[in-house]
Amino acid sequence: MHHSALLNVMIAAARKTARALKRDFGEIENLQVSLKGPANFVSAADRRAEETLYAELSRARPNYGFLGEEGGMRDGADKSHRWIVDPLDGTTNFLHSIPHFAISVALEREGTIVAGLVYNPVSEDLFVAEKGKGAFLNDHRIRVAGRKVLADAVIACGLPHIGRGDAELGHKETGAVQRQVAGLRRFGAAALDLAWVAAGRLDAYWERDIKPWDMGAGIILVREAGGYISDCYGGEEMFANGTITAGNETIGKELLKVLKTA
Ligand code: IPD
Ligand code: CA
Repeated sequence: MHHSALLNVMIAAARKTARALKRDFGEIENLQVSLKGPANFVSAADRRAEETLYAELSRARPNYGFLGEEGGMRDGADKSHRWIVDPLDGTTNFLHSIPHFAISVALEREGTIVAGLVYNPVSEDLFVAEKGKGAFLNDHRIRVAGRKVLADAVIACGLPHIGRGDAELGHKETGAVQRQVAGLRRFGAAALDLAWVAAGRLDAYWERDIKPWDMGAGIILVREAGGYISDCYGGEEMFANGTITAGNETIGKELLKVLKTA
């Protein structure tokens, strides 16, 4: 399939990073048995992955800014463009040898996300989207699922855990949603949750306490797959309030109604 120059840059950077991440993932099983565990190894792999992405993306687009989960914001001369990057989304899965993690790269222009990529190096699922050009999984066009009622829907969420998020609210929300849906899932990599909504594997998804690098690429994937994105309050301040819901428009709005009751 013919990709734009921009997507070619993003794909090349992600594939290069993925080769190293996959090698590192192969090491994890050996490290699980050590007393210290693989945590330090994983955070080094994570930082290395971010540096590879930074080097590759800024070689191709030297003036763009770069916001990465690990290194924070690195300003560029071009103030209207910035990359928003999570080199390893699903770190906890990676650490536990669970092969469900991804590289996430978004490009923002004047505050609007114009391109996104989510790549799982293990399954080799490559999701890409560009504004106005549709969303693709391994070069096949993807669309959000068409289910219109919650009772048929399989929905994913993020969950609070030790040191993170409002567990009480999490219980209320999952409790309210569980009673209405065909299935509730927690996969542990927000970028893939969103990509899977875009691909119609999941009917919807919501999460709180989520960062721009977790959701930047996924937002454009869902939108370009014909889906609906909002924050957990029905607005579009996902980055500002760190919450997100995704689905087709009908299910997305139904989910918002249920969350409101929690
Ligand atoms: C996390 C994952 C997880 C989500 C958290 C994120 P990380 O990112 O996406 O699914 O629930 O909110 O922080 O730490 O694995 O890159
Ligand atoms: Ca993340």
